[in-house]
Amino acid sequence: MNFNEIQHIEDTFQVETYKKMPISIERGEGAWVWTSEGEKYLDLYGGHAVCATGHSHPHVVKAIEEQARKVLFYSNLVYSEVRARAAEKLVSIAPDVLTKAFFCNSGTEANENAMRMARMATGREKIVTFTGGFHGRTADSISATFLGKYREIGKPNVPGHVAAEFGNIESVAAVADGETAAIMLEPIQSMAGVTEAEPAFFQQLRSLCDDRGIFLIFDEVQTGIGRTGSWFFAGSDHAGGVVPDIISLAKSLGSGVPVGACLVNDKVAANRKVNDLGTTFGGGMIAMAAVLATLEAIEQDGMIANARMIEQHLRNSLNGVGTVVSVKGKGCLLGIEFDGPCSAIHSELFARKIITGTSSSPNVLRLLPPLSVSAKEVNMLVEVLRNAESFPQSAETRA
Ligand SMILES: Cc1ncc(COP(=O)(O)O)c(C=O)c1O
Repeated sequence: MNFNEIQHIEDTFQVETYKKMPISIERGEGAWVWTSEGEKYLDLYGGHAVCATGHSHPHVVKAIEEQARKVLFYSNLVYSEVRARAAEKLVSIAPDVLTKAFFCNSGTEANENAMRMARMATGREKIVTFTGGFHGRTADSISATFLGKYREIGKPNVPGHVAAEFGNIESVAAVADGETAAIMLEPIQSMAGVTEAEPAFFQQLRSLCDDRGIFLIFDEVQTGIGRTGSWFFAGSDHAGGVVPDIISLAKSLGSGVPVGACLVNDKVAANRKVNDLGTTFGGGMIAMAAVLATLEAIEQDGMIANARMIEQHLRNSLNGVGTVVSVKGKGCLLGIEFDGPCSAIHSELFARKIITGTSSSPNVLRLLPPLSVSAKEVNMLVEVLRNAESFPQSAETRA
């Protein structure tokens, strides 16, 4: 089928969701994808922050193929070797105090379960999140999302959600009280425009939570699984060494096979009983094979060190480029901030067959490439940006 036919059929038979790029992806390899028309694009957006190991990494594909030949699925009502190995591996790379995993299917579901566990463990209902944070589109997660119009879409909102200002501990202290079950945050606010906080902020949050008996949740759906230059943002120098009580994960965790997870400490796990949590597909064998192989591939190919190298390389390469005001973020979660709206640059890059992302900040272009992307590949973007002065500016943005 050619692109026009594919586009027509999808638009006819699918409910409209995202604003789509005018291409149809047929196959991928590493940081590259090929379209139905045989054109090749450099993917610096990683399929929406999902394809951490690169497109169709051979180790991940082989693991999925082999598992598919054995058994596609059985639920959590039985034990499974691949689930045992995936859970053990995931916990082994987590900060020491996070000792158990709960598997589900997506980022929003991981966050819903994280908030539920905090409410169950504390007997409190209130959740504090942050202006600019994004946590998903199901009822509780969208109610926790104080970014743009998302809470409006999710009306009626789940009660008990309040927002504080990211990076401002006084604003947190003013709303996080004896009724609060959890404080949840994206440690780098990706969609907001790759907004960061100081390590001291995370340390202050940790002590505030400890003082007031509140659980701390890091939504690492984007920052986790090596993306920010360590397995997790939690416990890193950027977090001031702070480890939360719960980390929620999805996106990169399965290299594209839908899977989410919560990593929890003993205090959270001790409060859970049979039937408190559950989901039919969570922990299914195909997803577990993908998780295990994803973690192995990241480790075997040294992708976390590569993510750190890419950040440094991009910072060095863009230093002194006229229209670039700053490079934000860590590892392979990066925001290039321009001196004006960057939608024209985003479009120009796409015209030159380089896929990047926008953000809700009109001046910030987002990069979420595979952790295996090379400096040579990133140089293709840098070359275009060196000529960016000459692009017409446009105010149009996409959140
Ligand atoms: C930080 C963060 N949390 C949660 C979610 C929701 O994940 P999902 O779309 O898998 O439900 C997203 C999705 O973009 C996200 O970026």
